[in-house]
Amino acid sequence: MSVYKIRFGTPEAFVPSKFAPEPKCAVLDGAPEGLQIDFRVTRRGVILTMPIDSEAGVYGFGLQVHGFQQRGQKMTMRCNADPGDNTGDSHAPVPFVVTTAGWGLYVDTARYVTFYNGKCRLRDTGKNAKITEKTEVSMTEEELYAVRLAGVDTVMTIEIPYAEGVDLYYITGDRILDIVSEYNMLSGGGCMPALWGMGGFYRSCGRFSEDRVLDMARKMREYRIPCDMWGLEPGWQTCSYSCSYVWDRGGRFPHPEQTLKELSDMGYRVNLWEHGYVHPTSPVYTALKPYAGQYEVFNMGLVPDFSFAEAREIFAAHQKSLLDMGITGFKLDECDGADMTGGWAFPNCDEFPSGMDGEVYHNLFGTLYCKTLLQAFGERRTYSESRSMGALCASYPFVLYSDLFDHKQFIRGVLNAGFSGILWSPEVRIYCRSRDDLLRRIQTVIFSVQALVNAWNTEEIPWDRWECTDEVRRLFEIRMQLVPYLYTAFYDYHMTGKPPVRALVCDFAEEQECWDCENEFLFGDSMLVAPMTADDNGERDVWLPQGTWYNFFTGEKYEGGVHHIVTEDIPVYVKAGTLLPLARPMQYIPDDACFDITLRAYGDCSAAVCRLVEDDGVTVGAPMRVLTVSCDTDAVDSVRYRIVGHESVCE
Ligand code: GAL
Repeated sequence: MSVYKIRFGTPEAFVPSKFAPEPKCAVLDGAPEGLQIDFRVTRRGVILTMPIDSEAGVYGFGLQVHGFQQRGQKMTMRCNADPGDNTGDSHAPVPFVVTTAGWGLYVDTARYVTFYNGKCRLRDTGKNAKITEKTEVSMTEEELYAVRLAGVDTVMTIEIPYAEGVDLYYITGDRILDIVSEYNMLSGGGCMPALWGMGGFYRSCGRFSEDRVLDMARKMREYRIPCDMWGLEPGWQTCSYSCSYVWDRGGRFPHPEQTLKELSDMGYRVNLWEHGYVHPTSPVYTALKPYAGQYEVFNMGLVPDFSFAEAREIFAAHQKSLLDMGITGFKLDECDGADMTGGWAFPNCDEFPSGMDGEVYHNLFGTLYCKTLLQAFGERRTYSESRSMGALCASYPFVLYSDLFDHKQFIRGVLNAGFSGILWSPEVRIYCRSRDDLLRRIQTVIFSVQALVNAWNTEEIPWDRWECTDEVRRLFEIRMQLVPYLYTAFYDYHMTGKPPVRALVCDFAEEQECWDCENEFLFGDSMLVAPMTADDNGERDVWLPQGTWYNFFTGEKYEGGVHHIVTEDIPVYVKAGTLLPLARPMQYIPDDACFDITLRAYGDCSAAVCRLVEDDGVTVGAPMRVLTVSCDTDAVDSVRYRIVGHESVCE
């Protein structure tokens, strides 16, 4: 694996790398031998053209929910709250593309850069094209489109508006997994969330007063649905559109200290909703005014220019006072802006004091907002949420979410996020149209990086309506069983850049069947998840890579290939040779949690090992110890883990 930095012309002043953490990988200066990239500056900006292998699969571009294999697509990296089609618009567009041809390319720009992914062919370069005097007019779509799609000698063309130069990072590697991991190391390594972040998350109704919040939090404990994080939505503040960041002590939250204490006594961490548009009544408004854009968003909301260290400091100092009260996370809403629906966004022509225009700031806002909050967190670890991020964000412990709600799109998002160093939760909301829809969505979310139920706009607990508390409890208990396993996957993300959740093509590209597989993913290294949606009516085809796999729920054995599966459970398979650590489910994960681990061996595990990560779980940079256990380990020297049993799944 190698990373080459190639400079063309004079790059712009405001690019993602300017604000990113130090790379954790070697970066070579200049292009590798033989790489052909044509660079031109025209009135349209920078134009880059490079050949692209006619057979290669093309992936990436951030959190895309409308497409997966992007060969032949035109993708514009434009931040947006409501991406309607496979155009590149996204909550988190990332100008990073990765291919099955052994390379990836990160384009260091915050502009609305457009990639033409092997969509076009340069005139006179079609070596393989045949000149024919007269063509037959074909009457079948297949034949007509075959001409259009003929993959001979197409190029990848990249257009960066307004720019006069750019830095490219060309990354080589054998597998997509290696290339993506290296991109994540270039971004500073993957994030290491707080240990409690592996548990269940619940967000209660935005209108609730503190009494109703506490009632519902108690009810959740009575239901014995595991839950670690309680989210407060807009109502905790005096003003929320735009935001004051001040408790509504005169109204809904007269006693926030007491409320936080009661939530903490019940074992909940607390996360506060907010967005970055600052209301005139906010204590930070006056100080931030010199650092703001020219336009307002929402009701008189100032848009702070977080590229200034001073602006970040002012905002972070205030948010730190909330952390000091016991808050453990924030949900950074609306930082994507809406160009297609509603009216919250600053225009592309906005001018920010740093010199950025609205276009550049639009693509950087989410990332800089997360960076600002991280300053407030300091040494405290979190696992927060943001509705927008962008390039070089792998080290940020924030998870993306959306107001969109199509289940299949959400699953695609799970896969695509893994190509670009971002995390995505296919969150569950109230709008579920049936019991099956709700349960299918919870099945998906417990096998994602953040198990989030967002009930912000309902006064009821979503599963009360469908009377399926027992089923929901069982699913969240499965999540809790997998906490140590997932934590190890995050440790790997942190240390090596390997995404904890990813598309199958990352690991198995030599089996071309998975190149278009957009509805199955790896959860950690050993589990393959093939979610069902309510539309599947309880059955679907599942493709398994070569080798032996075992159904996680039934232990049934499968060989690689396509299988038609009928089940009420979510199809999940464990690779033969896996020693899976399963924890006894807790209701929540206290700082001093000690997990009772059963080691479940799938197939022949005589040579298998399982790694468990031990640290304090809450401090940035806390020492980490990796315990390695095998099938016959009976005891470990650890305060975090205790081996309580062994199981074996053979047939
Ligand atoms: C939306 C957000 C929702 C919820 C809501 C509260 O923008 O996506 O999850 O937080 O705001 O007003």
